[in-house]
Amino acid sequence: MAADILLEVEHLATGYGDLKVVRDVSLTVRNGEITVLLGRNGAGKTTTLRAISGLNRATSGALRYRGRPLDAPVHKRVAQGISYVQEGKRVFHELTVEQNLLLGGFSTGQRRHALAGALDEIYALFPILKQKRALAAASMSGGQQQMLAIGQALMARPKLLILDEPSQGLAPVIVKEVMEQIHALKSTGLGILLIEQGVNESVAIADQVTIIEMGRTVLSGPSSEVTAEQIQQAYFGSAVG
Ligand SMILES: Nc1ncnc2c1ncn2[C@@H]1O[C@H](COP(=O)(O)OP(=O)(O)OP(=O)(O)O)[C@@H](O)[C@H]1O
Ligand SMILES: [Mg+2]
Repeated sequence: MAADILLEVEHLATGYGDLKVVRDVSLTVRNGEITVLLGRNGAGKTTTLRAISGLNRATSGALRYRGRPLDAPVHKRVAQGISYVQEGKRVFHELTVEQNLLLGGFSTGQRRHALAGALDEIYALFPILKQKRALAAASMSGGQQQMLAIGQALMARPKLLILDEPSQGLAPVIVKEVMEQIHALKSTGLGILLIEQGVNESVAIADQVTIIEMGRTVLSGPSSEVTAEQIQQAYFGSAVG
């Protein structure tokens, strides 16, 4: 149903100066769903996210957010509900967990009681952050720090959460935990656009799968309908077995 569509990317092209990186990318994110964006190193995943968040300018194609063209500058897109957790995002180690979270909310100009409400919601989602709220972020594990980075983005009360490789550098068992946490966020009605290297782990929590190769969408569909063979084909150009 069209009303459920939060973000539509149609035939996006963008790059860096004269370098064309993204040539024809299309994808959709719906409210309360996870779209996972897959593709080999250098395929243009991060660059696609940069165009959605406003860091890169679309040279052609269309971006629509909540039914309207998306063309505001970066800070306005944050105010419109688009939060982007960039690849390798680090929290402030010397600050407490709660100070880190509050930093995520201050820039949005929310009043004190609104910030307190946002904090409560994040603590309900991630109880470990509540437990450790008064401790330095440095005292937390890698997986917990990733949850904190996501929590920081949630303080802006986004409708669309964009995550670029949130499990980067984490041990496999922790990756699963982080994926479960991301999956749990769906219950808030958020739409999530996720980039991951771990194909199986991310497809397992995704509603939609989009695969890009050399800046072009080569496969897009509901995760329940996309087969392992199709994913293999899109990555390596040949079917398995
Ligand atoms: N700031 C930049 N200036 C110039 N070229 C860039 C810049 N950032 C990325 N590129 C180039 O754009 C291409 C796509 O990069 P991008 O980071 O979007 O890929 P990716 O799919 O996210 O890859 P990875 O899986 O390694 O994160 C690469 O060839 C890269 O070298
Ligand atoms: Mg990338």
